This record gives sequence, structure tokens and C-alpha cells, in this order.
Amino acid sequence: MSLYAIGDLHLCRQVPSKSMEAFGREWKNHEKKLMKNCRKMIADDDTLVLLGDHTWGKKMEQCEMDFKYIESLPGRKILLRGNHDMFWDAKKTEKLNARFAGRLNFLQNNYYTYEDYALVGTKGYTFEGPFYLEDGHIAGWDRDEAEHAEKLVGREYIRLRESFEKASADGYSRFIMFLHYPPTNILQTKSCFTDIAEQYGVEQVIYAHCHGAARWHDSITGVKAGIKYKLASGDFLKWKPEKIL
Ligand SMILES: [Fe+2]
Ligand SMILES: [Fe+2]
Repeated sequence: MSLYAIGDLHLCRQVPSKSMEAFGREWKNHEKKLMKNCRKMIADDDTLVLLGDHTWGKKMEQCEMDFKYIESLPGRKILLRGNHDMFWDAKKTEKLNARFAGRLNFLQNNYYTYEDYALVGTKGYTFEGPFYLEDGHIAGWDRDEAEHAEKLVGREYIRLRESFEKASADGYSRFIMFLHYPPTNILQTKSCFTDIAEQYGVEQVIYAHCHGAARWHDSITGVKAGIKYKLASGDFLKWKPEKIL
């Protein structure tokens, strides 16, 4: 049994005008590349966590073909909410889980298990500017936007805490934490997300959202305070899911 993760599929089977192919050669036939790699690597008893930004479809009816594709990937699938996942009303995660029961699992305000680990997670959030540059260095940023971002960070933090608390109450003490957004913004070395990861002794934090080579180093990678941080956006991984355990 193994645990894998990858994010930012940005499927667009029913909204082809949103194709990502203009964003570089990594995106050419990316669906096919991912399917081929998954079939090679992932067995039916493995788990694949999809880290959000699954589809460009806005309403559920525009996502059906993309869900068919996701369902046809091998293994047990756990989905995280990305900022572009408009089909996913944050308050209706239970409804989604009921609708896709036995096929797909949606992670928010809940948790899943893998061997003796709890898989916890939420969309997350991080301030992405605008930043103001001086001589190529960040000299300031939009204070109103930063303040607004703090509110969204707070909301996501509460959702993540609930995920930890439920797993903890059920006796789990080993954690893998998943976020769609990176755990810190480009100026930070810590955040409430890294704090809670340290507090619960998380072993790995896996995130996505940063795609395009210019963004691959926006946040923490490698080991910090004993926690392994990994970026697992699809184009960064060349559509080969990252093995977590
Ligand atoms: Fe994305
Ligand atoms: Fe995103």
C-alpha cells in the first residue's frame, strides 16, 4: 500500500476554452501523461490525494466529464478544495461525500486514514500581493488586500483545526497534512499553518497551487522543524504523482 499526492489538474473537458496548454509544454496532453503515470505507479489499494483546482467547470453539470476522468484514475481518491473549485460549496462537503460515496472522498472539516496515519487538510490561503517592487526587491504591499487575506487565512485555519481535532479525538497521533495553497506567503518563514503542523507533530505537509516555474519556490520545501514540506503541483511533478508514504 502506498500514499501519493498531486494537485492542479485544471481539467476542462466541458470548458475547452480554459485549456492550460498556453502555459507551457508541461501542460500539453497533461491529462494523458497523468493517466499513464498513475496507471504505471498506483495500485487499487493505494491512495491518491488530489490537492485541488481539479476542474475549470463552474457548475456541477460542467464538471461531470472531469469527474469521470478523476474516478477512472487508479486507487482510492481523496480530494481537497482548490480556489478554482467552484462546484464545491464549502458548507456542502457532506453532500458531495454522499453524492460520490464509494467513488470519491472530499476532505474538509473531516479527516481520512491511511494505515495508522490521519490525513488532515483544508484549502488553506495565503496573501499573494500585490507586492510593490523597488530595485527588484519587495518594498511594500497592498495593506487592504493583506488584511483581507488574513481573514481568509483565519477561516481556513479553523477548518484545518477541526480536521486535526476530529482525528485526535478518535485517537490518531500520526498526521500527514494537505493544503491546496502553500503554507506561507513569499515573505514568511512561518504561519498559523506551520504552527499547527508543529503543534500536532505532523510528519509531512503537502501543498500545490504554485504552478509555472516562476512560482515553484514561493514557499517552504525540504525539512523545517522536523517536518517535510513538499510542493506537489502537477506541472512541477511533470504529472508523476509524489509518493508520500
Ligand atoms: Fe491551480
Ligand atoms: Fe490554486
